[in-house]
Amino acid sequence: MSNAIESVLHENRSFPPPEEFSANALISSEEQYLQMWTRAKDEPAAFWGDLAQSELDWFHPFDEAMQGEMPETKWFTGGKINASYQCLDRHLKTWRKNKAAIIWEGEDGAQRTFTYQELHREVCKFANVLKKLGVEAGDRITLYMPMVPELAIAMLACARIGATHSIIFGGFSADAISDRNNDAQSKLVITADGGWRRGKEVPLKANVDASMEKSPSVEKVVVVRRTGADVSMAPDRDYWWHELMEGVDADCPAAQLDSEHPLFILYTSGSTGKPKGVLHTTAGYMLGVTMTTRWVFDLKDEDTYWCTADIGWITGHSYIVYGPLSNGATTLMYEGAPNWPDEGRFWNIVEKYAVNIFYTAPTAIRAFIKWGDEWPAKYDLSSLRLLGTVGEPINPEAWMWYHRTIGGERCPIVDTWWQTETGGIMISPLPGVTATKPGSCTRPLPGVVPAIVTEEGEELEANQGGLLVMTQPWPHMLRTLYGDHDRFLETYFSKIPGCYFAGDGARRDKDGYYWVMGRVDDVLNVSGHRLSTMEVESALVSHDAIAEAAVVGFPHELKGEGICCFVIPKGDIPPDEMKEEVKQHVRQQIGAIATPDQIRFTNALPKTRSGKIMRRLLRDIAAGKESAGDTTTLEDYTVLAKLREQDEG
Ligand code: WT7
Repeated sequence: MSNAIESVLHENRSFPPPEEFSANALISSEEQYLQMWTRAKDEPAAFWGDLAQSELDWFHPFDEAMQGEMPETKWFTGGKINASYQCLDRHLKTWRKNKAAIIWEGEDGAQRTFTYQELHREVCKFANVLKKLGVEAGDRITLYMPMVPELAIAMLACARIGATHSIIFGGFSADAISDRNNDAQSKLVITADGGWRRGKEVPLKANVDASMEKSPSVEKVVVVRRTGADVSMAPDRDYWWHELMEGVDADCPAAQLDSEHPLFILYTSGSTGKPKGVLHTTAGYMLGVTMTTRWVFDLKDEDTYWCTADIGWITGHSYIVYGPLSNGATTLMYEGAPNWPDEGRFWNIVEKYAVNIFYTAPTAIRAFIKWGDEWPAKYDLSSLRLLGTVGEPINPEAWMWYHRTIGGERCPIVDTWWQTETGGIMISPLPGVTATKPGSCTRPLPGVVPAIVTEEGEELEANQGGLLVMTQPWPHMLRTLYGDHDRFLETYFSKIPGCYFAGDGARRDKDGYYWVMGRVDDVLNVSGHRLSTMEVESALVSHDAIAEAAVVGFPHELKGEGICCFVIPKGDIPPDEMKEEVKQHVRQQIGAIATPDQIRFTNALPKTRSGKIMRRLLRDIAAGKESAGDTTTLEDYTVLAKLREQDEG
């Protein structure tokens, strides 16, 4: 971490917004930003209350904009609202009725476009299907699907009738599905026969089948036909989507739900094994994503907007589906891999649909750099006017490449810092206002009041690294961890009393710009996906031949962080061939994203006297560094020397 601070301190480049961009931007001056930010800080209830009234459609107005202290703040209480109505119905009364809502491209080149009217119709029909299957407001529904339009339709159909969706990323394994089904007590699973990824079929239905034995709460499974793969359909449990949709009524009025009605649960890794079910509610979340989409992406009706995330992550929830659709935008959705059939796929899509706004992750940008400039050079990228990144700190070199090679030096870059828990973007440039500095997510959005503090909660001076906390509540923050409010209080609000803390270290420079340094706990950030070291460790020790394991991240050129596993076998150190088997075991237990990069067999791990594994030392070894830090609490000094002798593999 000290290295990161060193290198960014030398980053003095600054890129003011192009004049023409500012002239046409929705927020176009420093005064406007400061005025909004100050009002939101001083009078949050009035600031957000006014926006909720003017920007959301209500069945019944709310009584109070903001009620109670963080972390128990409730927003827009007394109001009746529906997220699916926000995203669909309200546009049908305008010229947007026949505007493209979703433009979808499959990995195999298939294309489908849904206007707002068409999307509304499909959502209403599927909402009626859900009702027929016995789904009621408040029920939890699992979605384990490829990136196909039916995923967005299913989300909006759940929202329409007040069912709470829990989306599980398609890369997760059967065990991960049943864990989440059980935690949420999910009643129904929506999946597909399979999905396409690099020309190969991902066996989604087979994974769901394997999870069913351990998912007693699940009564029914709905299956979208995507790949045409041969799948088994259990009688009276499994139903084809297309058969259920036949002849269904397209009239389904949106349920009038309380502002705080649970909209979705999204599981994210914590520092202990059990995933955390982050719960977001309706009105506050919808206001947050509606406003941040508009402010940060300077979204105009003419734009074709593309966020390359998977909807299985929060980025896809907020910035492919709810935020863009609430704004009446055209959102592009791509099913597959960026290097299929070749490394030019993304640029081919940008050219083909004349994409104006492009939002991706640093890990993807590092892959593009590695694949070479010849790929973007083949395509016309001149439609692009704004670029974004999210998921992890972006190294200044990658930022500069993005700026030059993709942005043609004319597109502002919004480096957006936020989390599953924050629901929407928190710290980010406003593209028409903020001069950007490569590697900094710059300044807080209106309504966001961060601070940098010590472990004891004392505020630090400019350029001192510390813990990043939020000192005020915001409408789109998580409300709880599903079924475990104590863990919610403990995880986010106990470290620094009165503040929200979700684990990142950062510093603020003399211009008030934030530089996020990464997570301070034991969570890995692999290709922008947050993984718990604990979960990978549990997967390792579930192998018959493994006694103990410790997992750490190490800097990885493409993935940001790679996964290094120190593994103590039950017997003698096994032959190297065993490393591949161990990797496959973890992959099968958790999913492909958790496949270890390195397995190092060892007879012992460095531990403190109290028996805690000293991960800091392991991180140094994994990164190939000498340990400079304090080793005085180390129980057995010889362990370190032995570990260094092990090769990577
Ligand atoms: C963690 C949140 C938010 C959607 C994707 C990840 C890291 C995220 C940035 C950024 C530096 C970033 C943080 C954060 N992170 N964006 N622009 N600069 N770090 O969501 O899985 O909830 O992970 O990702 O460490 O805490 P998530």
